[in-house]
Amino acid sequence: MSGKQLVSRIKRKLWTKAAGEDAYITSTGDFRTRERHGLVKRPNYAYGMLRAADVAKYFGKRKVTAVEFGVASGHGLLNMIELSEAIERETGVEIRVVGFDTGKGLPPLEGYKDHPELWRGGDFAMEDRETLMRKIGGRAEIIWGDIRDTIDAFTDALDPAAPLGFVSVDVDIYTATKSALRCLAGRPARSL
Ligand SMILES: C[S@@+](CC[C@H](N)C(=O)[O-])C[C@H]1O[C@@H](n2cnc3c(N)ncnc32)[C@H](O)[C@@H]1O
Repeated sequence: MSGKQLVSRIKRKLWTKAAGEDAYITSTGDFRTRERHGLVKRPNYAYGMLRAADVAKYFGKRKVTAVEFGVASGHGLLNMIELSEAIERETGVEIRVVGFDTGKGLPPLEGYKDHPELWRGGDFAMEDRETLMRKIGGRAEIIWGDIRDTIDAFTDALDPAAPLGFVSVDVDIYTATKSALRCLAGRPARSL
């Protein structure tokens, strides 16, 4: 072991003892190391989006599409934008970020599978569309409307050069989830 390696080992040991391993990784780790330790914001999105970029690169693609079904006030979509920028720096693969939402909250519920004891039409309505669009600043698209009516045109128009690599389904109700999952049916050239 070289002197440099020894110093680095001692530094890690002392740091970890004093503040814990997470603090050490957060301060010294690169993006992949922090992701592996679950130390980036929205680790569930980070994991899938990073894998999507890696797989896209493996297949010689320079771009991949990542989707959030259910945007509400946009916290998740803004996290996806931040992650896409970090992942682009890490992999060189560009990420097209797309959100889907009615803009008016949950659509009317259609039966017991939508859990009317938990939810009501209109729940999670977007509070301030203009502010969200300003924060997004052109770094993501939002497809407005009921997913049931928008999903097929979106999937049909996916560019095989930027295939679908990641989806988050966060729409709360069964009927909307079923519609969202239509993006995975068929069209093998349009997804990873
Ligand atoms: C729990 S919120 C999403 C929260 C967001 N993913 C986040 O992490 O910040 C659920 C959203 O799904 C949307 N949604 C539910 N069903 C939908 C449908 N059929 N079409 C479009 N949007 C829908 C609602 O408008 C609501 O804003």
